[in-house]
Amino acid sequence: MEVEGTFPPLSLSAKFEGSFAYLTVRDRLPTILTKVVDSLHRNKDSFFKEYGKEGIQAEKRAISFLSKLRNELQTDKPVLLLTDNAEDTEAWNEYMGRQQDLMEDGQPVSWFKSSWLYMECYMYRRIQEALNMNPPMNNFDGFKEGKTQSFFESQQAIKCLCTYLQELITNMENMTEMQLRENFLKLLQVSLWGNKCDLSISAGQDNSQRSSPIDSLPDLQRFILVDDSNMVWSTLVAAQGSGSAGKKHARVDIVLDNAGFELVTDLVLADFLVSAGLAKQIRFHGKSFPWFLSDVTKQDFEWTIMQTMAANHKWMAASGAQWKHFMKDGTWSYHDHPFWTMPHEFCDMALDAADLYSTLQGSDLILFKGDLNYRKLTGDRKWEHTVLFDRALRGFQPAPLCSLRTLKADVQVGLQPGQAEKLNSQDPHWMTNAKYAVVQFSGPHRER
Ligand code: F6P
Ligand code: MG
Repeated sequence: MEVEGTFPPLSLSAKFEGSFAYLTVRDRLPTILTKVVDSLHRNKDSFFKEYGKEGIQAEKRAISFLSKLRNELQTDKPVLLLTDNAEDTEAWNEYMGRQQDLMEDGQPVSWFKSSWLYMECYMYRRIQEALNMNPPMNNFDGFKEGKTQSFFESQQAIKCLCTYLQELITNMENMTEMQLRENFLKLLQVSLWGNKCDLSISAGQDNSQRSSPIDSLPDLQRFILVDDSNMVWSTLVAAQGSGSAGKKHARVDIVLDNAGFELVTDLVLADFLVSAGLAKQIRFHGKSFPWFLSDVTKQDFEWTIMQTMAANHKWMAASGAQWKHFMKDGTWSYHDHPFWTMPHEFCDMALDAADLYSTLQGSDLILFKGDLNYRKLTGDRKWEHTVLFDRALRGFQPAPLCSLRTLKADVQVGLQPGQAEKLNSQDPHWMTNAKYAVVQFSGPHRER
């Protein structure tokens, strides 16, 4: 918890034995590395077919790199500067140097002694290094199978959702503002709970959505600990502008999290925003390489739209075709920036990724999906649960923003006095079991 006088509070870290960070670094991260090795093994034949002997040798070298990495992690070795020559190598090494300078008594930064956020991000970047160093492995996505599986196993729910969306669009013209608002809030919640279905919390175990996402909403309502959806709605309405000049071209940015079912929920929400005239432009932000098991890359984004379009289901296919059209005419666009795959807290963005910060400043509303984005918004620190979300953002305010997140890590701010204590007594794992969620807003429409 925030120790009085310490601002900002300490970072979560595996150095706190028994903490969720400790257990993740000790148990979950090595399992994830093993899964990448397995995935490389399983794809051996296709590497051979595509690249011949060279492919097999590269695969072997990548596996040995990853096995070494797992050993470094498990024996708490100091972190090593990156040696590949990628777009972000210099920025990473600079960041790592700065973190080393901050260590007390010149102790080396290592897996179990340093910030959890840094170490976890570092692991995913080292996995990419293993591939970058061993072409033609550099385009291999060791998490692809899990992401496609989540998409295919959620087919029933995706069909329900696309049917629901197409019915809404058909009736949109006759909808009152109240009805529009109600439907928006429903789809916002679907996108929120879509975040329950990522793979990293289960270290890659299946976590798909099988029931109807709309029907589940009333039962899930009581698990939303903070619900600022009304402010999100007011922000969208205000962004429409008024007066004879007509509607403003409202822009919504969605900082994506996971592929599979969650991505479909985000696309459905984005479609609704455009079809209802609440936004004229949607900018999606994804990752530039495979990240945290299930995060969306450009390839996943395009693949999902194509698969939806090709589905043997009338309303799924119609939705997919519409999404492809939005991409083609520029209403939707996909962007990646190296900052999203760095370990920074978002309050550092204005300084360390000024171009991205200024791009986000052009938005009318930024939706941050998922747990990792929440950790970065709040700096992944030991905040008191009653600290205001705005305070935990520490100046990060490019535009009105909202976090849609199910809780999978032990950082949570903005609760009412006594709320955390009550949750502790009812469910000791409330912060990490993805059973609870928050819709947390920061911006001018926040009522104080
Ligand atoms: O350890 C579980 C974990 O990897 C957290 O570190 C991380 O915050 C979360 O899962 C990823 O969840 P999400 O996909 O919602 O960001
Ligand atoms: Mg994720």
